Amino acid sequence: MASPLFTPLTLRGLTLANRIAMSPMLMYMAEDDGCVTDRHFVHYGARALGGCGLVMSEVVAVEAAGRISHHDLGLWHDDQVAGLRRVVDFVHDCGGAFGVQLAHAGRKAKLRSQPLAPSALPYADDFATPAALRSEDIERLRAGYRAAARRALAAGVDLLEIHAAHGYLLHSFLAPLSNRRDDAWGGSLEGRARLVLEVVAAVREVWPAERPLAVRLTALDFVDGGVTIDEGLWLAARLVEAGVDLLDVTTGNLVPGHAAPVYPGYQVQYAERVRAATGCAVATVGSLASADLMEEILGAGRVDLVCVGRELIRNPNWPIECARRAGVDIALAIPTYARATGPYERGF
Ligand SMILES: Cc1cc2nc3c(=O)[nH]c(=O)nc-3n(C[C@H](O)[C@H](O)[C@H](O)COP(=O)(O)O)c2cc1C
Repeated sequence: MASPLFTPLTLRGLTLANRIAMSPMLMYMAEDDGCVTDRHFVHYGARALGGCGLVMSEVVAVEAAGRISHHDLGLWHDDQVAGLRRVVDFVHDCGGAFGVQLAHAGRKAKLRSQPLAPSALPYADDFATPAALRSEDIERLRAGYRAAARRALAAGVDLLEIHAAHGYLLHSFLAPLSNRRDDAWGGSLEGRARLVLEVVAAVREVWPAERPLAVRLTALDFVDGGVTIDEGLWLAARLVEAGVDLLDVTTGNLVPGHAAPVYPGYQVQYAERVRAATGCAVATVGSLASADLMEEILGAGRVDLVCVGRELIRNPNWPIECARRAGVDIALAIPTYARATGPYERGF
């Protein structure tokens, strides 16, 4: 029987061995310098050994002020490249690909410095009131994304993802609830979408044509003044025109307490709509821990890639278990793992 889950996926010059991506998950374990530590190396390396086709990094800040916490990774400095390179090389050695999620926390930052946002509106009562970005800050931001993309390239990263969801900076620009600007980056949908499109253009300028670019996009926000599904679909089409190859579709969290009801695969329907509207490859994410369900949504052509978060924290070898269940022989990074996962009945 065919296994859609273990069918390779090609995006530009990158071919993923299977359709399982580790979803970006911030581990809060960097020092204040934003460099990769041994814990990151083992954490990401374990998921590559476990058979993920694509291992995605957690949020990687494009500037120090764009971190969620003082324990985030960053690519705002050349010193941050070497540690990342070590992770990427190891993932490649295991037969996987490595993606970096470039991010700016915006008003969700919990730092000693004041957060930055489209408008001076706090995310919630226990968050600091942000400073509204000036046009010179926006220029610096675009340059920051561009420089971070160059550093990711120097580290050998295969795929870049721009984080434009979950209430962080680029998402907060998209919604009237968090963006009250009356300049070129606010007001109409075109104005609110301007920054994310400028960031994509800036990154695409330096990110080579053979490497795919993704955006983690909110399809809708479930709150008045948030992104509507029509706006989400409109933006998805603009992103594809701007050179995006994969739309990683999520929803909600623009403000606390407004998110989709959760059940296995609860965001598949939105990814499917984005795929139908744009023809672009899409990823889905959210409570997907059933190989059978994943085979169905991939096999039916509803999505192209599945991002798995917490299940891969619980079980880094989950992709190997899925392959065994599907009866698919995969190239194991440590062939001796077959003694436990292959047809052997006994351990000796
Ligand atoms: C500990 C943790 C950290 C997360 N950090 C990020 C992140 O850095 N970037 C991001 O886009 N989403 C982040 N998320 C959201 C996940 O990528 C994913 O969308 C969410 O957990 C739903 O998928 P799951 O049900 O498979 O865990 C995080 C989730 C968890 C549990």
